[in-house]
Amino acid sequence: MPTIFACHENRNLGKHGWLHPVSKRLLYRACPALHSTMVSVPVKTFYIETFGCQMNAHDSEKVVGTLLQQGFAQVATPDEASHLFYNTCSIRDKAEQKVFHRLDTFKRSAKGKIIAVLGCGAQQEGEKIFERAPHVSLVAGSASYARLPEMLIQLEAGNKRVLGLAFDRDEAFETPYTRRDNPHRAFLTIIEGCDKSCAYCVVPFTRGPERSRTGANVMEEARRLAGEGYTEITLLGQNVNSYQDPSPAGWDFATLLARVGEIPGLRRVRFTTSHPRDFVKPIIDAIEADERLCNHVHLPVQSGSTRVLKAMQRLYTRDEYMRRIDWMKQSRRPLAITTDIIVGFPGETESEFEETMQLLDEVQFDAIFGFKYSQRPNTAALKIQDKVPEEEITRRLSAVQEKQRAIQLRKHGEMIGGIEEVLIEGRNHATQQWIGRTSQNRTLNFTHTSDDPALLGTYMPVRITRAGPNSLAGEACLNLDLLQQISA
Ligand code: 5AD
Ligand code: SF4
Repeated sequence: MPTIFACHENRNLGKHGWLHPVSKRLLYRACPALHSTMVSVPVKTFYIETFGCQMNAHDSEKVVGTLLQQGFAQVATPDEASHLFYNTCSIRDKAEQKVFHRLDTFKRSAKGKIIAVLGCGAQQEGEKIFERAPHVSLVAGSASYARLPEMLIQLEAGNKRVLGLAFDRDEAFETPYTRRDNPHRAFLTIIEGCDKSCAYCVVPFTRGPERSRTGANVMEEARRLAGEGYTEITLLGQNVNSYQDPSPAGWDFATLLARVGEIPGLRRVRFTTSHPRDFVKPIIDAIEADERLCNHVHLPVQSGSTRVLKAMQRLYTRDEYMRRIDWMKQSRRPLAITTDIIVGFPGETESEFEETMQLLDEVQFDAIFGFKYSQRPNTAALKIQDKVPEEEITRRLSAVQEKQRAIQLRKHGEMIGGIEEVLIEGRNHATQQWIGRTSQNRTLNFTHTSDDPALLGTYMPVRITRAGPNSLAGEACLNLDLLQQISA
């Protein structure tokens, strides 16, 4: 077991650093409080790498919190760690290949280390991982994380093949020890799993059935986060808007969203990902009633063809999707709309693909995530014979992306001269610009006379001066007249 240094208050963690008590980041080489007695103590150290979506990123924050609470110390490289954790994604096979490639890379340096594979890839591949990567000793899916401390004990006891694959919890995995990566923006899971059965999707098999947290439980955590200084919260769920409070209060998603927005201290509330079938008008009404609910809805359409949507088992038609778009376009709030598109779903004809292209023209999305259809184990689409050739799938994806690029360039161009409030999220030292995010979830990089790190996490009006397809650029708006313009 590696030895690390700890001062007498046990504030130092890791071979080279100490864990900042507030930001929980590994920082300096010496104990900043200069505690006199530096002692050397044996500590289990871990390194974690995360692949995939925001749900996975947030799951890792919970796993890290649990490990820290169990007396582990986090380190920045695999070399320094006694335990390696890979939180994997299996939504498309590329993500999965990446994980096995990574496990192979660490095969040689893995000697004497405990290697754990977590997440959707672990749930999907199960025991097969032990065969394919014999240096792995823990395989656990996200629905088993509540048993993580117990599984760690089994590892400690020398068990070489610990497995956690059961969907054995009625509730979402929550831990008060979650170690959040960002000090200003927090993720908060409100619902886990998925009860839909889209024909291409592996998620119902990897994340299990839907489990909503109680409204009271969500509110308690959101209030605590606001009290800790977080000003932005993103409510998370595979189908976030299918949320249904299991307690007698019985809140639906729109009610929960409105209640979270009312929590003092919060300035921005986001949510992702929404399913069109459950996207009801009261959600828009809630956004319209409260400025703190952000001007952004991510509503994956997947295809513009009703025939393909039916084959995908998406539970809505193109017209039903467009009705939701109309609600958003008619809103008093300037809602940005983003989506996911899959091209080359089995049986998708050229004219059905053209319907997707026309949908892009019609909706004028603010951003899209385009994917090539990828065959996934256990899914219904495997049975559809009529596969679209790979070169054709590649062509369709490029066509979608090219069209969308032009749309974004035009939309961003129209924003030049306007003023947007950003949350300052980072600093690009190479360009000497601050990195901000608008309520519509656009990246807006900007110049400011100050490079004081205290600006991080604050909100600032920025005048947009330039536009690219994927981001905007501008300058901090320190002029009082302009400030009055936006508050008018
Ligand atoms: N192939 C391609 N894209 C997929 N997605 C989910 N499953 C697949 C698949 N088998 C995409 C969908 C979903 C996003 C998270 O990933 O567009 O909305
Ligand atoms: Fe997958 Fe469909 Fe569930 Fe989304 S709604 S996670 S695409 S099965």
